[in-house]
Amino acid sequence: MDELKNKNIILGVTGSIAAYKAPEIIRLLVREGAYVYPVMTRSATYFIHPLTLQSVSREKVTLSLFNGDERDIRHISLSALADILLIAPATANIIGKIAAGIADDILTTTVVATRAPVVIAPAMNERMYENPVVQQNIARLKSTGYRFIGPEEGRLACQDKGKGRMSEPATIVGFLKKIFSKMEDFKGKSFIVTAGPTREPIDVVRFISNYSSGKMGFAIAREMRDRGAKVILISGPTFIKPPEGVDFFVVETARQMEEKVKEYFDRVDGLIMTAAVCDFRPVQSFKGKMKKESKERVVLELVRNPDILEEIGRVKGEKILIGFCAEAENILQEARQKLKKKNLDLIVANDVTEKGAGFEVDTNKVFLLNSKGEVKSLPLMSKRKVAEVICDHIKQILEERQANK
Ligand SMILES: Cc1cc2nc3c(=O)[nH]c(=O)nc-3n(C[C@H](O)[C@H](O)[C@H](O)COP(=O)(O)O)c2cc1C
Repeated sequence: MDELKNKNIILGVTGSIAAYKAPEIIRLLVREGAYVYPVMTRSATYFIHPLTLQSVSREKVTLSLFNGDERDIRHISLSALADILLIAPATANIIGKIAAGIADDILTTTVVATRAPVVIAPAMNERMYENPVVQQNIARLKSTGYRFIGPEEGRLACQDKGKGRMSEPATIVGFLKKIFSKMEDFKGKSFIVTAGPTREPIDVVRFISNYSSGKMGFAIAREMRDRGAKVILISGPTFIKPPEGVDFFVVETARQMEEKVKEYFDRVDGLIMTAAVCDFRPVQSFKGKMKKESKERVVLELVRNPDILEEIGRVKGEKILIGFCAEAENILQEARQKLKKKNLDLIVANDVTEKGAGFEVDTNKVFLLNSKGEVKSLPLMSKRKVAEVICDHIKQILEERQANK
C-alpha cells in the first residue's frame, strides 16, 4: 500500500535522548515515498546535529521562527504544507506547551497554526510521565483530537526501567500509515451527527434539560472528519469546542433540532443521533420570568417532543441510521426494542448508572447492537475510542451494502 507516498510530513524533534531515533523515523518515511520536513527545538540540537536530519530527509531543517528571511513565514508555510505533523520524540515540556496553547518557538507555533492531524510520540523518564500534570496535559490533548503513540515500557535512556520509552520508529511509521489509510474510509460520504442536550424553556430564564455534555457526539464528528467524511454537526448547547472542519450548528430545543436534521437529511448518507433530546417540553413557555410571589406550588404541564430518530427511521431508505440510548435498567432489552421500533442499523446503549459511563465524563462503557441481532459489549474506554469503534461499524455496514448491490 502507498499510504505515505507523496505525503508531506513535518517531523518535530524535541530535547530527549530518544532524538537519536529521529533519523531512523525519517529514513523509514522517505523509503515509503514521503517528504519529511524536520523542525527542531533548541534543546533537540543538543542531542542530535541538524545536519544528520538534513542528510537523511534531504530537506532543510527548520530551527527558528526568525530565520532572517521572513518572506517565507516558515511556521505558516510548514503548517499549511503538512499532511500530518509528527512530534517524535516529544518531551514533557512540549506536551505541556501544546496543551497550554503556547507558541514561543518554531515547533509550537507550527502546531498552533496547523489544521493537519498532530501525532505525538512521548519519550521521558517514567516519573516524569506519571506526573499528574503531564497526565492531565496528555488527557487534555487527547480529548481535543491530538493522537498519541506510546510511550512503551522498557529500559529508558536514564538506565531506569518503566513506562516512558518512545515507541520504535517502525511502530510510529505504522501508526501514521494507519491514520492515512483511515482518511479514505468515508471519502465522498457525508453524515449528520447530533450531540449534546436540548433545552426546553419554561420561561425566559429557566429550562428543562439533561446532563449531556456533547462529548460523545463531538468525538464521533471528529473521527468521521478524520476518516474523510463531510460532517454536519448539530448540537444542543454545550461548553466544549466543536472540531475544526465540520459544519457546525447550535440549536436549543428538540423541535429546532428536528428541523435542522430534516433540512439536511436528504443530502447525507447517514445520521448518527447521539443528542440527548428531551422527551418532553412544557406545554407553554411563559413570556417573561415566572414570579414566585403568591405561589406556593406550580404545576408544570409537559407534552411529548417529536422522536426525531423514529420519524427519520420511517423515511431513511438506504441511509445509515444510528441511535444512542442511555438506560438505567434493562439496557439490552430497551436497546433491542428501540433498534427495531426506530428502524436503526445500529444502537449504542449505555448504562448511565455505571461509573465512568454516560453523561459528562470522558469515558464510556457501551453495548453495540446491530440490525442483524448481534451484540457487542465494549469495555470502559475513552469516548474517542468508542467513536473509533462506532466508525469501524459504519464502515462495515457501508462495505456490506456495497457488496450486496
Ligand atoms: C540528558 C538529558 C536528557 C533528557 N531527556 C528527556 C526526555 O527523554 N524527555 C523529556 O521530556 N525531557 C528530557 N530532558 C529535559 C528536556 O530536554 C527539557 O525539558 C527541555 O526544556 C525540553 O525542551 P524542548 O521541549 O523545547 O525540546 C532531558 C534533558 C537532558 C539534559
